[in-house]
Amino acid sequence: MTDGISPAPADGAAKPSLPAGFRWPADFLMGASTSAHQTEGNNVSSDWWGLERLAGSGALGGHLREPSGDAVDSFHRWPEDMDLLRGLGFNAYRFSVEWARVEPEEGLVSRAAIAHYRAMVRGAVERGLTPVVTLHHFANPHWFAARGGWTADGAVELFVRYVETAVEILGDDVEYVATINEPNMLALTAAFLSQSLETLTEINVASVAPDAETSQALIRAHHAAAKALKAANPRYKVGWTVANQVYQAEPGAEAVAAAIAHPREDVFLEAAREDDWIGVQAYTRTRIGPDGPLPAPDDAERTLTGWEFYPEAVGHAVRHTVDVVGPDVPVLVTENGIATADDEQRIAYTSGALSALAEAVHDGADVRGYLHWTALDNYEWGSYIPTFGLIAVDRTTFARTPKPSAHWLGTLARDIAGDPAARD
Ligand code: BGC
Repeated sequence: MTDGISPAPADGAAKPSLPAGFRWPADFLMGASTSAHQTEGNNVSSDWWGLERLAGSGALGGHLREPSGDAVDSFHRWPEDMDLLRGLGFNAYRFSVEWARVEPEEGLVSRAAIAHYRAMVRGAVERGLTPVVTLHHFANPHWFAARGGWTADGAVELFVRYVETAVEILGDDVEYVATINEPNMLALTAAFLSQSLETLTEINVASVAPDAETSQALIRAHHAAAKALKAANPRYKVGWTVANQVYQAEPGAEAVAAAIAHPREDVFLEAAREDDWIGVQAYTRTRIGPDGPLPAPDDAERTLTGWEFYPEAVGHAVRHTVDVVGPDVPVLVTENGIATADDEQRIAYTSGALSALAEAVHDGADVRGYLHWTALDNYEWGSYIPTFGLIAVDRTTFARTPKPSAHWLGTLARDIAGDPAARD
């Protein structure tokens, strides 16, 4: 199917092909990622909840098809989610804390929300899942957006105040803390939202530039939050997670590709040079010709998001990240996966991705873990149709059913990181 995938073994499942003599690094994290808004449900104090009222109107390029509603009710079912992941064989779980729940009104801290997320952190640790905690994953509190968002006066200070509040959630239990998920996508969303939502007909990451003022505000927020976290507890390893588009220049288009990549990606990687780790998130590639982004070839295999099926993306993304950030900042792959209704395609994709990742590690990249996007089919920012999950969810009963890919990746996780039971 693609380079790097071994022929399927007798049991029918692909296996990543590894360089000769290759071993994954010791203490490698193998797990899955989620975010609060996409899984918890009823995130009513967030700006996204408000935005979702436009669902079905054609706004935001038609991407807003349906509201998130109950999502997959992980707000109540997180113990079951964690039990499943651990039972499957994983040793790590990335989830996010929702600012809009912790501070539903400016200055009003919900003690119940703090207790809820604190219980999740303890719940992960008690199950032998290393928690990787994101403090901001796309959604803002509604009040924060209403006062002007990231570029308004005092925005950075308000974020840092929330981060300081969240220290109680992290306690002494969390090492890996991500301040902000995909600041580049947040700055891009700010650029989209500055246009009329109703008339916006197309969303094209490569043709719209992130809002530069928002980018700079996010970088300031990240640095200030990192400083506050380190002051609160030197145990915290602080980083952020950047969406990597894997820009690939056609011959002669190198300068065009670099000019496209800098505001969309590299400026956020450069800002991570003093961090404790950097999160790599990659799904596909974007080829760049002399006149800019090129469409995927007509015969390219595509996923449910319309993206080119390109398992090698994560290998390229890790190499590019190390080139820009520098070799001394460890990498965590915090997202990688595929929206598909064909679970065999998910296994093939993930197998190819792990092959590409192994090559990058073999060539010297300091990669500490792989967290698949995503644990459960969930709300894909406007729609439930693109299913990225290892675990299917019935959205009426919320019953969870691990897919074959979940068993396949969990078994690999056991091979790579050891059996969870032996870790107790
Ligand atoms: C985000 C996730 C999203 C995923 C797939 C990333 O941009 O962090 O929230 O669901 O990609 O689109």
